Amino acid sequence: MSDHPPPHTLLPRNPSRRLLLQGGVAGALAPLLGACATPGGAPLIGFTPLQPSSSDTLLVADGYEALPFMPWGEPVGIAGQPMPPWRDDASNSAAEQALQMGMHHDGMHYFAIDGSRRGLLVMNHEYVDDGLLHPGGLADWTAAKVAKSQAAHGITVLEVVLEGGRWQPVRPSPLARRITATTPCVLSGPAAGHALLRTSADPTGTRVLGTIGNCAAGLTPWGTYLSGEENFPDYFTTADTPTDHEKTWNLNPGSWYGWATHDPRFDTVRHPNEPNRFGWVVEVDPFDPTSPPVKRTALGRAVHEGAWVAVTKDGRAVVYSGEDANFECIYKFVSRDRIQPGGAKANRELLDHGTLYVARFDADGRGRWLPMVHGQGPLTATRGFDDQGDVLIKARQANRALGATRMDRPEWLAIDAKSRWVYCTLTNNTARTPSGPDGVDAANPRANNTMGQIIRWREDGDFDGEAFEWNHLVLAGDPANTRPEAQGNTVGDAFGSPDTIAFDPRGVLWIGSDISTNRLNTGEAANLGNNALLACDVATRTTRRFLVGPVNCEITGVCFTPDGRTMFVNVQHPGEPPRGRNDPANPRRFSNWPDFSPTGRPRSATVVVRKRDGGVIGT
Ligand code: FEO
Ligand code: CA
Ligand code: CA
Repeated sequence: MSDHPPPHTLLPRNPSRRLLLQGGVAGALAPLLGACATPGGAPLIGFTPLQPSSSDTLLVADGYEALPFMPWGEPVGIAGQPMPPWRDDASNSAAEQALQMGMHHDGMHYFAIDGSRRGLLVMNHEYVDDGLLHPGGLADWTAAKVAKSQAAHGITVLEVVLEGGRWQPVRPSPLARRITATTPCVLSGPAAGHALLRTSADPTGTRVLGTIGNCAAGLTPWGTYLSGEENFPDYFTTADTPTDHEKTWNLNPGSWYGWATHDPRFDTVRHPNEPNRFGWVVEVDPFDPTSPPVKRTALGRAVHEGAWVAVTKDGRAVVYSGEDANFECIYKFVSRDRIQPGGAKANRELLDHGTLYVARFDADGRGRWLPMVHGQGPLTATRGFDDQGDVLIKARQANRALGATRMDRPEWLAIDAKSRWVYCTLTNNTARTPSGPDGVDAANPRANNTMGQIIRWREDGDFDGEAFEWNHLVLAGDPANTRPEAQGNTVGDAFGSPDTIAFDPRGVLWIGSDISTNRLNTGEAANLGNNALLACDVATRTTRRFLVGPVNCEITGVCFTPDGRTMFVNVQHPGEPPRGRNDPANPRRFSNWPDFSPTGRPRSATVVVRKRDGGVIGT
C-alpha cells in the first residue's frame, strides 16, 4: 500500500537515546560484502539501466520481455468450481470474485513442483479500491459489495507451468485455491484461546474468519508460505471514543472500507476483541488446499509487513518481521525446536514455541534484541501484561515499555544466508522530526524522511544472537534535491521509498520502490519517475533501474524460479489516485494498464520477466 493512516499517538521516547545524524553513519557505508562477483569475474549486473519514466506503460531493460500475467479478476481454476470470466465493467459478483484473482497483488513466492518448469505461484491481495471493484463504487453500499470486497482480499494459490517459453496458468488445478476475508483460519501459539481473542462467534479464541491486509510474503524451509496481516485497523469501526488499546493500534470511529455497515464483526462496539484476531503472521501450506491458514501468535501482533526465515547452525528457525507504521519496530522470533524433515506436517507446531525479541539500534553501530517475555523487565502485571498472551497481543505497548527503537516504517526484509547480513527497508517517515520525542536517531537519521533507507545488521554469533552490528546499505533519495535530507547517498540510479527487497539466486538484491501516489513525479520525487525495480550489487552499493511500472503503481512481490531465468514481480494499484479511490465514473483517468481496453479499468497484475536469450535475469 502506498500510503498509510496518519501517525498514531505515541508514548514519549527516552531522549537520552535520541541522536542526530553523525558522520559515522555515512562512514559505515563502506562495502562489507565481497562474495557477489560472479565466477570468472563477470559483472554481477549486466543490463543497461532504464531512464526514469512517467508514462502509462511497463518498461523493462533491453534484451528482456515483461508480460502481464493473471491480473485481478482472472479465474484461478479451482478444481470442481466454475471459472467465471473477467468482466471489465467490474460487474462480477462476490461469489465470482471468490473464484478469481483478488485485487492488489503484493507479496509472492514460487513453490517448485517440477524445478523451474512447473510450480505454485502463491500471492497476497493486500487491499481493494472500491472505486474500481464495483460498477458504482461506494454508491448504494450494500452487503453484496462488502462481500465482494472481502472476496477480493486474501491469498491466491495458482498452479503455473512454462510451455513453449511462456508461463501459463494450469486451470483447473487440484491445488488452486483462494483464501479470503471469510476463510476459516486457526489461531495457534501462546495467545491462542486468550480472553482478548474470544468473541461471541468464537468463545474458544482459536478460530477466526479470514485474513486481511496481506502484504509481504516469506518462505519457510519446510515449504510453507508466510503472509503478514498489515493494515487491519482500516477495516474496523470503533465507538466515537476509542479505548486506549484501540488508540494504540490506530483503530478509530472512521473505517476506510466500511465493512461494519453490513458485517457487524467489524464493529468493535459489538465485537471488541475482533481486531485482536488480526495483525498476525499467517502460515499457509500451499500444497494442501484443505489445510486452514494458521495465525502464529508467538511471532507477535503488529501491522505486519511480512516475515522472513533464517536457520541457525543447529537447525532452529529465526523469523524476522517488521511493522510498517511510523515509529514502529523490528522483531525476531527464535524457535525452541529444530526444523524437522518431513515438510509442513512435520513442522506444524514449530512456530508456536520460542522466544520473541524486539530490536534496539544503538548509536555506536551495535544493537540488542530485547526479549518480549512475560515477567521479564517491565513486561509484568503492574504494567498491564498479565501473561504472555497479553505481551503478544499488545506488542506495541510492550515494545514501548522495553525501549525498542522506533523505526521509519519497516517494510520488507531480505536475508543473505552466506554473509549473514539481514537487510530491511525503512520506506519513509515524514513525521520524523529534527528533535523531540519523534526526533531522529542513528538508525533513522533524517527528519521529514520522504525517501527512506535500507538498514542491515549481522548477529553476533549465529542468527539467534542477542546482539548485533548494524549500518545502512543506503539512504535513498535524489542527489539533485536541494534539501539535504532528500538527497540520500545512492550510487548509480536514484530511487525513493524502498519497499520490496529480495535476493535472487546469484545474490543480487532487487529493490522495488513505493513512492506514494501523492508524491510521485512531483516535488522531491520529480526526477525519479514512476515506481521502479532496481538491481543492487550490495558489494558496491550500485543500483541500476531494471523495470519501470505504469502510472501510480507500486512494484512489489519480486521472486524467482530456482534457475534464476524467470522473475515474477507484481504491479500493484496502477492508476491509484493521489490519496483516495478511483472515481467509478472515470476508472481510466490515471491508468488503463495492462488491458488498455476502451471499456476497462486498470488492474493489478503479475508480470513475468524473461531474458530474450533465455539467460539468467540480471546478467
Ligand atoms: Fe503493504 Fe507496507 O506495504
Ligand atoms: Ca509501501
Ligand atoms: Ca509494502
